[in-house]
This record gives sequence, C-alpha cells and structure tokens, in this order.
Amino acid sequence: MDKLVIEGGKPLSGTIVIQGAKNAALPIMAASILAEGTTTIDHVPHLLDIDVMLSILRELGCRTEHKGNTVVLDTESAHTPHVPETLMKQMRSSIFLMGPLLARFGEAKVYLPGGCAIGERKIDLHLDGLQALGATIEEVDNSIICRADKLRGADIHLSFPSVGATENIMMAAALAEGRTSISNAAREPEIQDLQNFLNAMGAKIMGAGTDTISIDGVSFLKPCRYRIIPDRIVTGTIMVAAAATRGQVTLLNTQPAHLTSLIHVLRRAGVQINIDGDIIKVGSAARPRAVERVVTAPYPAFPTDLQSQVMVLLTLADGMSVMKETIFEGRLKHVDELSRMGADIRVDMNAAFIRGVPRLYGATVEATDLRAGAALVIAGLAAKGKTIVEHIHHIDRGYESIETMLGRLGARISRYTPVSNNYYYAE
Ligand code: UD1
Repeated sequence: MDKLVIEGGKPLSGTIVIQGAKNAALPIMAASILAEGTTTIDHVPHLLDIDVMLSILRELGCRTEHKGNTVVLDTESAHTPHVPETLMKQMRSSIFLMGPLLARFGEAKVYLPGGCAIGERKIDLHLDGLQALGATIEEVDNSIICRADKLRGADIHLSFPSVGATENIMMAAALAEGRTSISNAAREPEIQDLQNFLNAMGAKIMGAGTDTISIDGVSFLKPCRYRIIPDRIVTGTIMVAAAATRGQVTLLNTQPAHLTSLIHVLRRAGVQINIDGDIIKVGSAARPRAVERVVTAPYPAFPTDLQSQVMVLLTLADGMSVMKETIFEGRLKHVDELSRMGADIRVDMNAAFIRGVPRLYGATVEATDLRAGAALVIAGLAAKGKTIVEHIHHIDRGYESIETMLGRLGARISRYTPVSNNYYYAE
C-alpha cells in the first residue's frame, strides 16, 4: 500500500484551486440514472470513490468517461437494477443508487454498503423513506431488494437529518406521483447541489438548504450538463494546514458561505482569514489559541468531516481545548496516532480534551479513515522531523493527489509506492 513521507516544519505558502466536491458529485452521478441519455458533469475530481461510482454505473450498463474533470454518463443502455456486492462494499455512497434505480426500474438490489470505519452508519432512514414512497423491502441472502410498481409522494419526517437519506428520498421522489415533503431534512450544501442538478433535469424540487424539502413528482427527467460545487471539506483541510504550519495560503474557487462554522472556530484560534468573493486567504504567524468547545453537528454547525483536521491545530494551541463528536461514535481513532506524534489528548466518551503542546514530532502513523488521514498529513506538515502516513488509500478516496496539491504549496511531501520502490516527489 502507498505511503506518504513528509518532512515537516515548512510553512505552506502559495495559491491553490479547490477541487469539486466529492460528496456532491457522488449522489449527482447516481441521479444521472433517473434520465435516459447523456449527462455531462463538470468539475468532478479524480478520486477512488468516483472511480468506484463509475465502475458501478458501468456494471449497470451505462457508458462512462472521465476526461480532465468532466464526467460523461450515457445511461440509455442501463439494463439492470442490481449493484454488485463487491463494488457496493467498497464505498458507502453506493447506497445512493437505491433511490434512482427504484425510480427508473421499479426495483433496486443492493447490499449493505462499505466505507470509512467511523461507526455503525445505519441505513434505516433510507429504507423507511423509500417504504413511505410505496416501496417494499426484502432482505435476501445479505442483499436488500426494494420494489415498487409505482412510487407515490408522501410526507416523510426524518428522526435525524441524515444527508444520505435526504438525498435518496429526493432522487426517488423526483419521479414519484404527487408531492413528497421531507421534514427535518439535512441542510448540507451538497443537498442544494443535488436539488439544482435534479431541477436542471426537469425535476420540481424546492427547499433544499432548509429543513423542509418539497418535491412535486414529474413523469420523466431529461439529461443535462451540470457543474459541481467546490469541496468545502478540502477547502477546510487546506485552511487548517495553512494555519497549523503558520503559513500563508490563497484558496481559489471556494464557497466561503459553506464554511461559516469553520471560519468562526479558526478566527477564535487566532487565525487570520480574509474573504473576497470566492477567494479565501488564510494566514497565521503565531501559536494558535485554544478553543474552549467545538461540537460537531449537522450543517450549518461544525462538520464532523473537519473534526480531526481542526483537532491537529488545537494540539498545537496555547491552552486546553475540547472537541465533542456527536455524529459518528467511532470518529476519534486519530487521537492515538496524534498522541504518537507528541499530542496531549484525553478521550472521555465522545469528547477529546486537548492540552496544547508547543510542537509535534514526526512518527510513523496510520490513516484510519479518510479525514483522519488528512489530519495526520496536516500533523506531519506541522511536525518537526519526518512523518510517514500509512494506509493512504483512505485519503485517496477524497483528496485528488494530496501530495501534488500540498507540493504546490511548498510542502515537502512524497508518495512511496512499494511496488516500484520509488518515491514520486510532488512538483
Ligand atoms: C454524509 C457524508 C459524510 C459526512 C456525513 C455527515 C457523503 C457521501 N458523505 O455521510 O462525509 O461525514 O454525511 O455529515 O455525503 N444514520 C442512521 N440511519 C440512517 C442514516 C444515517 O442512523 O439511515 C446516522 C448515521 O449512523 C450517522 C448519522 O446518522 O450517525 C449521520 O449520517 P448521514 O448524515 O446519513 O451521513 P452520510 O450520508 O452517510
């Protein structure tokens, strides 16, 4: 497995263009199944998860192409609603196919999805939502088979604002008969992006971004061309890396409005942030200040996907910070790895008590999930000495060549591929 080798201690400096959002691209690619014909999606990053979604779409009979950052999906020839188990296990987002397949074929056969090991991650809300639209659900030999001759609009209340369940229900309801209303819906920007995409295909959806979404079902959708929003988690990761290395970085193609809670936390930590349209400038020259309390919660609150990265900054802060994880129960595994680099963190249930230290030290550490992996890279960039981050396939799921991106900002980071026994240095 590939590793990243980082010589730490160099402030990041320079300008970077932010990639398209993985978490917007994946449901939108799945939603392309809803229309027969060729859909073109721009600003799609090259990531392992995107490759898995393309493989699944090909298995379903679609023709796919990913050239530059444009994905072309011809769904005309899709002929089966069965997602293969091996692909399903590689990525949780494969669950997004359930709603679109059900709406197009009247049937979807999927398996329990895989993905990052960050807690139990149930799919009951997805299944309850589809059932409310009229689907029957059967579990046969490890697989889940949903069937519906006709989907009918319904009032659906989510007991928790699940991102994936909101998206699956929106996609299925787009072609249902009548009106669907989702209350306590997730409000993440990626949900607004999905609404905009579906509406560009001819759907009638309103309310994404609020906690109530209404969908007036239409009888068919047409293919379209669509550009994905910038990735707010990649943006946030680079912002934190700039602050942790006490560098100066300009980020282009961002949506600062999607990062309000992060910007608030970073400013409390003493990080300088200037915003001009879609440009964010981040700089820090001094040791960060501790932040008393950061709690992850559904958007627009502080995102769980930036918890581990910000924790790295707080390990270097002057004073005691507390971070509480309320979305995923298994999402503090990076604490052990950060401790090996000299961080002083105590975990009690879902809270991490972080006593800032003046410096982290390079070590060999293991990425336990996607964002934890990114956090370890930030720690390596800020640390004194050499850090080796192992199991970086997790990082490749969400960051488009992280070593190239950081190399452009002056980081000394290289990828080690054991097969060829070579180091590839980022430009
Ligand atoms: C999405 C994001 C992920 C992010 C997460 C929370 C994508 C591809 N992934 O994941 O990066 O970390 O939102 O912001 O967009 N839950 C249930 N039953 C369900 C569904 C969810 O109990 O049917 C629980 C989960 O176990 C978890 C919480 O709800 O504790 C949040 O999950 P959800 O919002 O669904 O996250 P994902 O869509 O999986």
